Amino acid sequence: MQKQLEELHTQALSELERVSESRELELWRVHYLGKKSKLTQLLRSLATLPLEERQSIGAQANEIKKALETGLIEKREILEETSLISSLEQEGLDTTLPGRPISAERLHPVTQTLEEIYDVFRNMGFQIFEGPDVEWDYYNFEALNIPQWHPSRDTFATLWVDSPGEGARLLRTHTSPMQIRIMENSRPPIRAIIPGRCYRYEATDATHESMFYQVEGLAVDKNITLTDLKGTLFEFCHSLFGSERKIRFRCDYFPFVEPGVEIAIQCLACNGTGCRVCSYSGWVEILGAGMVHPDILKRVDIDPEVYTGFAFGLGVERIPMLRYDIDDIRLFYSNDLRFLKQF
Ligand code: DAH
Repeated sequence: MQKQLEELHTQALSELERVSESRELELWRVHYLGKKSKLTQLLRSLATLPLEERQSIGAQANEIKKALETGLIEKREILEETSLISSLEQEGLDTTLPGRPISAERLHPVTQTLEEIYDVFRNMGFQIFEGPDVEWDYYNFEALNIPQWHPSRDTFATLWVDSPGEGARLLRTHTSPMQIRIMENSRPPIRAIIPGRCYRYEATDATHESMFYQVEGLAVDKNITLTDLKGTLFEFCHSLFGSERKIRFRCDYFPFVEPGVEIAIQCLACNGTGCRVCSYSGWVEILGAGMVHPDILKRVDIDPEVYTGFAFGLGVERIPMLRYDIDDIRLFYSNDLRFLKQF
């Protein structure tokens, strides 16, 4: 009986091997696994065998049944696949052609830079905020100590938006308006980073775009001093440009800070000897900053006798331009894959 079973097993498998279409497969199934198949009958007649034989023969027969069932499933899959391929071939599709490689996606160089900036400031406890691109005159200028008559308005070539009867609206010229919005909505301690697009009505050239990115920073708390500003921003510059990079820290003027400062790094292209990139000065300006003007704190109802703060703003495209020696800011937004694929 054991031998008979073994023969049945080998025979079934070798016939299965030869099956080449689904109709044949069905006949094979009925013959070897159907109700009237030898195997099924044998399993049914097990009860008539003496106990010992019943156990060993039963186990063997069940194993064979399982093997045949698995063989059936596998064969079915193979046949289905072959028939799919042959129907595709009939439609005229060459299934032997190699596939086209899918190119790995990557982030835009400006986005990559933004993420690096977030990392540095997140590690120092700053939180990321976003704000509206269409802004009120009030937030973009007035609340930042830049009233209608202020000459510094001229330096912001503003794109105005029609807003009949609602006060003047514009495309924000910098991310600084978010300083005000954040201070209106939260109380110190504040540690904020605000990335965003800014717009200026300017003729574009190698260093000017009408849309560009800035990152604003704001820290307001008790006992914040110029030393904190300097420490934070030096740490930032060293993280991005290497700890050996020389940094220049000097006075500047912005209406919304007092005192105002400007930070420049030693030119990456010439290491300070002077070249076209740094206009032969050896230094490249990276950001503007300062201690938040007390009038601004008062305007948002934060007592300048108790709290102080620092703020800064930096242009984002500048950073990859310096690092990778990119000589035209317009390349970032012209969607040329030959440029973008290099990052
Ligand atoms: N908003 C300024 C600009 O676009 C940059 C800036 C300077 C931001 C000084 C600041 C700051 O927060 O303190 O030119």
